[in-house]
Amino acid sequence: MIDKEGKIAFFDSGVGGLTVFDKFKKLLPKESYVYFGDLKNSPYGAKTKSELIVLADKVFKFLETKNVKAVLMACNTTSANVYEELKNNYSFKVYPIIQSCAKVIAQSGIKSVGVFATCATINSHAYSKELKLHNSSLQVYEQACPKWVEIVEKGLQNSSESIQIIKQDLDLMLENKPEKIILGCTHYPYLINILSKFAPKDMFIDPSKFFAEFVKSDMENLGLINENSTQSEEFYVSANNKEFVSAASVFYEVKSLPIIADL
Ligand code: DGL
Repeated sequence: MIDKEGKIAFFDSGVGGLTVFDKFKKLLPKESYVYFGDLKNSPYGAKTKSELIVLADKVFKFLETKNVKAVLMACNTTSANVYEELKNNYSFKVYPIIQSCAKVIAQSGIKSVGVFATCATINSHAYSKELKLHNSSLQVYEQACPKWVEIVEKGLQNSSESIQIIKQDLDLMLENKPEKIILGCTHYPYLINILSKFAPKDMFIDPSKFFAEFVKSDMENLGLINENSTQSEEFYVSANNKEFVSAASVFYEVKSLPIIADL
């Protein structure tokens, strides 16, 4: 039996999961939150499935010590590669981003969609599989953007070299003429200002909004919302806490230095 007075946790390799956390906190402002960024092992997109299983399991076991009722995998790479293997192993409910958003995107009336994601997500074809479960005629173009996570973590999004890399990747995708493009890595919304210099902003789908709405509604259905809680937030990283605060600042103000939890 999950305790509805527990905390809600967010898990990512770094600052990307804040794009989900920020939206979720606005939907449920009274809950207590824990955020974990596995910066010691970032980027996850370059890891193998078995490496990702080991890393995610360590983070989940750490979160089990923090009185957590639900964990949002605010990381597409682990949602694609470890959710099925690990989902039933812990004392809390686990929510994966891709599987939680695929239906609403697939049934939004579009006929073709691009997916930008990490190498490990693209190699798993998780987006294409999940989207086609809900709309078998949807045309899906998947493309890895291997350098984007590092650009975000290092706060280099405005350098001319980064802009050139982003534009090159975007141009390649645009050759397919997709109606929309999913930002299938939670770090990528940090790059929306650059992307929208070269393509209309409304072309890009940030799944974090759908993910936050899905989890809120599921937790309501399961009776897991805590109406009496007073909002709090704790941040943990496995390394580089100062760098985390600095990279996050484009998007989210982390008010106190995250605690380093060396798993
Ligand atoms: N932000 C993560 C994702 O959504 C992981 C990025 C990485 O560490 O490669 O896939």
